[in-house]
Amino acid sequence: MLVIELLEKSRGRYLSGELIAQYCGITRAAVWKQIKSLKEQGYQIESRKGKGYCLANDCDILSQEAISSYLHDPSFQIIVKSEVTSTNDVLKELAQQGYPEKCVLIAQTQTKGKGRKGRSFYSPNDDGLYMSLLLRPKQLKPEDTLLLSALSACAVQSGIKRVTGLDTQIKWINDIYLKGKKVCGILCEGSCSIETNEFDYIIVGIGINCHNTTFPQDIKGIAASLQSASFIRAKLAAAIIADFFKDYQTLPNRDFLSHYRKHSCVIGKMIQVYQGNQTYPAKVLDIDEHGYLIIEKDGHLETLSSGEITIRVKS
Ligand code: BTN
Repeated sequence: MLVIELLEKSRGRYLSGELIAQYCGITRAAVWKQIKSLKEQGYQIESRKGKGYCLANDCDILSQEAISSYLHDPSFQIIVKSEVTSTNDVLKELAQQGYPEKCVLIAQTQTKGKGRKGRSFYSPNDDGLYMSLLLRPKQLKPEDTLLLSALSACAVQSGIKRVTGLDTQIKWINDIYLKGKKVCGILCEGSCSIETNEFDYIIVGIGINCHNTTFPQDIKGIAASLQSASFIRAKLAAAIIADFFKDYQTLPNRDFLSHYRKHSCVIGKMIQVYQGNQTYPAKVLDIDEHGYLIIEKDGHLETLSSGEITIRVKS
């Protein structure tokens, strides 16, 4: 075991150099060397004579070891990179190379973070959580992909609640809002065979504004972060990954839809629908079993399913 793995498992507690050496099967000198290198990488490790070494509870360095220590499930392959173009794009390449389901790619920063509809996703270093999950859903029908988007939103909403205590809302289909401003966007992309109508892979890309205190001018009025809470991103990543895969395993049962409806900020609200060059007001009645939005428009029921539709909640 690496020294960092052991320190991660014992966050906030002092471990003697001797114990670390024994546990990791290395010499005391080698322990000291690894601790020195970790400190140089920015890890907050306290050293006290007679007590040993302690990794600070609030040390927020995103690392594979930190995430794995909260995940407690070795079947996940967690890859952490300091900088990528887009975690979705890089994971797509890995998917094409044959990487399996449950591979998760996380980056400290993205130079070409992507949002929906060709938009970019603001991805500054150290402030956010940018992660993509690789799925190989053999049974998923293309018409049910919206369910995966809804499931992702549930996992983010519940992960945020568990780790930060903050109550966020889900705006159809998978934006996460805190006090009326967006804190997380999700971009699902996939490759589907025309012959078999089966997915080769799906990438679920999740971008969360965690510690940001400012935003660029163009998104200042609509973006927020989770900075009012004190938490570390590794714990949040692990919570979301665990919640996502728990519901994903029972996707056909659609158990998560009740959670989705409960935390939806659109059900029962008046909205403005934007569809191509058309726009109209409507009332949201419910979300159906496919994740589609059921609306009342001019006294008639209609179902909205397309990702090309934008809605604005009226205040
Ligand atoms: C949106 O709100 O339009 C979706 C934003 C999705 C952003 C995430 S960050 C991780 C992953 N990699 C990307 O390039 N995009 C997604």
